[in-house]
Amino acid sequence: MTDNIAAGSPPASDIPPPADGYVGDPALQAEWDNRYTSRQQLWSGRPNGALVAEVAGLTPGRALDVGCGEGADAVWLARRGWDVTALEVSGVALERAAGHARDTGVAVHWVHAALTDAVLPPASFDLVSAQYPALLRTPDAAAERALLAAVAPGGVLLLVHHAGMDVQHANDSGFDPADYVWPSMIADLLNDDWETEVDEQRPRVAPGGGAGAHHADDLVLRVRRLR
Ligand SMILES: C[S@@+](CC[C@H](N)C(=O)[O-])C[C@H]1O[C@@H](n2cnc3c(N)ncnc32)[C@H](O)[C@@H]1O
Repeated sequence: MTDNIAAGSPPASDIPPPADGYVGDPALQAEWDNRYTSRQQLWSGRPNGALVAEVAGLTPGRALDVGCGEGADAVWLARRGWDVTALEVSGVALERAAGHARDTGVAVHWVHAALTDAVLPPASFDLVSAQYPALLRTPDAAAERALLAAVAPGGVLLLVHHAGMDVQHANDSGFDPADYVWPSMIADLLNDDWETEVDEQRPRVAPGGGAGAHHADDLVLRVRRLR
């Protein structure tokens, strides 16, 4: 399921990679595999509305889809001429994503890894897209830095999240929004090498159906690397 872009990359932790080549925390993989296995299809199967809107004006180049899930965005990008690398911790999701790509007749480089454990070519992607990525925060901001480090000069990082999660989930058990990377945390790390093109909350253009269909608004951050 991995390809030669990131396969075999040494994990940042001392956890040995399992036999299938996955690089990352096995507990994280198991958690997401369980979530995907609980349904035949977890998401809508259609590309995210914010991705479609934000990418429409971009010239296709190399794209990295972080937390690609069942692959709808990766396939959509590939169909529009992007050379797509799609990264995901869940092997179950990746199998579905690869099937979607096969059915559509497009090629995608699949990487079975957690973002911060994958070795990605630095500063190489014209688009780094993270759509509702559920990246865990760490004190050293490793996930935020990995997203930024992957963007090529002139390229764009697009991070989209559900708005209002703090309010909505404050009383729910098992989910603390403070555990995750939010667009504001990326914005806090930007220096003069970056230009903010979009930083807003807006109504979500939902693809329809899927487990996230109830979310009404998006937080959209689109930043461009100048040099
Ligand atoms: C809410 S889902 C969104 C999936 C997809 N982007 C979409 O919009 O349909 C979050 C995805 O991120 C993946 N994920 C979570 N932590 C990750 C990490 N550290 N590195 C890569 N993927 C991760 C999960 O397995 C899951 O598929």
